[in-house]
Amino acid sequence: MANKSGALSATKITKMKEARDKIVVVTAYDYPTARLADASGVDVILVGDSVGTVVQGRSTTLGVTLDQTIYHTEMVARAATRAVVIADIPFPYCQLGPEEAVRASARVLKETDATGVKIEGGASRASTIRAVVDAGIPVLGHIGLAPQSVKALGGYRIQRDLDRLLADAAAVEESGAFAVVLECVQSDYASEVTKKLSIPTIGIGAGAGCDGQVLVFHDLFNFTDHAASETPKHARVYCDLNQILQAGLREYVSDVKTGAFPSDSESW
Ligand code: KIV
Repeated sequence: MANKSGALSATKITKMKEARDKIVVVTAYDYPTARLADASGVDVILVGDSVGTVVQGRSTTLGVTLDQTIYHTEMVARAATRAVVIADIPFPYCQLGPEEAVRASARVLKETDATGVKIEGGASRASTIRAVVDAGIPVLGHIGLAPQSVKALGGYRIQRDLDRLLADAAAVEESGAFAVVLECVQSDYASEVTKKLSIPTIGIGAGAGCDGQVLVFHDLFNFTDHAASETPKHARVYCDLNQILQAGLREYVSDVKTGAFPSDSESW
């Protein structure tokens, strides 16, 4: 479904900071969940490369491909009538430099109705962000914990280097990003970055001082496979889908086994 009047844009998201209107971001990877998010008043739907961990069952996001990103973004963008849809450029297109990043981002915009892309990395990714923005593609930055660099970081850890965070944030803003995600950053550092920037900060595990918040859909609803991952401390579970779905599925299994399903009224 194409965006209608009243739809948000990357520019409108940037302006929400000045208006002190908190920005609500959630990830989604398919049509029905994106429809729910859009109808609930979520401002930005992020087709995160977290699809690799929460949907594909991988231990990192590194295996997600550009074709998969496009496949999921296409479904999500079809559902969004108001929310801005942003696709995460998967590893390693942005790491390969500006040309590869522009090529990958342009494919996303050409083959889906997404508004823009997310690029992980700060100062070291400045020329890449600039090139994508210059190609007319809105960019959401992502600094602090960068999951695509998990092997170099030695794990998913809180980022505690304030000087680096400030330098990365300034580089992302100067490169033309319309907003920036701060992931797993000490709250007081995130507040300091938020005060220094004119573009909005969207926190995940970065405290209440950010201009907006982002959570992974499956964490919001405890829809994760606990054998593979724990719901992180920064995620609030608003409803326990795991329990609800398990109870429903058990009842279905029992009804089929005992012959309680289907009833006459459910038969043709
Ligand atoms: O991939 C993702 O879902 C993300 C968010 C956690 C910001 O990058």
